[in-house]
Amino acid sequence: AENSNKRPANGLPEGQPVAKKLRGLPETYVLPPNVIVMRETMQTRGMFTIIRDEKTTHQDFVFYFDRLSRLLIEEALSYLPAEEVDVMTPTGEAYPGIRWTRNLCGVPIIRAGEAFEIALRGILRDCVIGKILIQRDEETTLPKLFYSKLPKDISERTVLLLDPMLATGGSAKAAIQVLIDSGVAEDSIMFINLVSCPEGLQAIYEAYPKVCVVTGEVDRQLNERAYIMPGLGDAGDRYMGTE
Ligand code: PRP
Ligand code: URA
Repeated sequence: AENSNKRPANGLPEGQPVAKKLRGLPETYVLPPNVIVMRETMQTRGMFTIIRDEKTTHQDFVFYFDRLSRLLIEEALSYLPAEEVDVMTPTGEAYPGIRWTRNLCGVPIIRAGEAFEIALRGILRDCVIGKILIQRDEETTLPKLFYSKLPKDISERTVLLLDPMLATGGSAKAAIQVLIDSGVAEDSIMFINLVSCPEGLQAIYEAYPKVCVVTGEVDRQLNERAYIMPGLGDAGDRYMGTE
């Protein structure tokens, strides 16, 4: 069986500078080893351009966010543990394939993480979905846990933890701790986000090095209000239309 944390992605050798792939970061920047960056194409760049543009309408934001998040989740799923299996095709010849070995559970961090649900349900039929409600205090920027509801057998599943933005990492770390307290092994958690930054990636790696982080793009840095720069503003507000 393959390791669920198999990496690196994108042909990037582990521990090498990735400045060519990640615009705006210092040439010396090295991704933490638990991070996978989504494969970049002209389509993904075009869609990131639209969702980052402050002039983009609510309708377009939702449409392109949904398209991008589908690609992002597909990318994350390609790192799931699998085993080899042969199937017989109608021609009478065997096909040497693979099948996945673990059941999944999607866990969006409410509210913005729920924006991934359309993509998740479009990819995984009868997907089990838990919820964790964490809100960042806008004054202190610290995360606060309000609610969680997870399936009873969550410890036997690989968990796809979903939140579009990884800023300080406070919300994601609090959510990861809720999962671990519920019996999920650290290396059975994949944290999936669309936009991240070095500060948040480092914070997750230091606290939970076995959590695999799959990110769409890595931005330059946080500003003084702990917003990602250049980022896309408040993802929850832009997706839900509450700006
Ligand atoms: C945003 C975002 C993440 C968090 C990231 O949520 O969706 O959950 O901030 O920041 P952090 O890495 O510094 O914790 P917010 O609390 O603004 O709530 P929302 O989902 O309602 O927009
Ligand atoms: N949450 C967001 O939605 N955007 C940021 O830039 C930081 C936190």
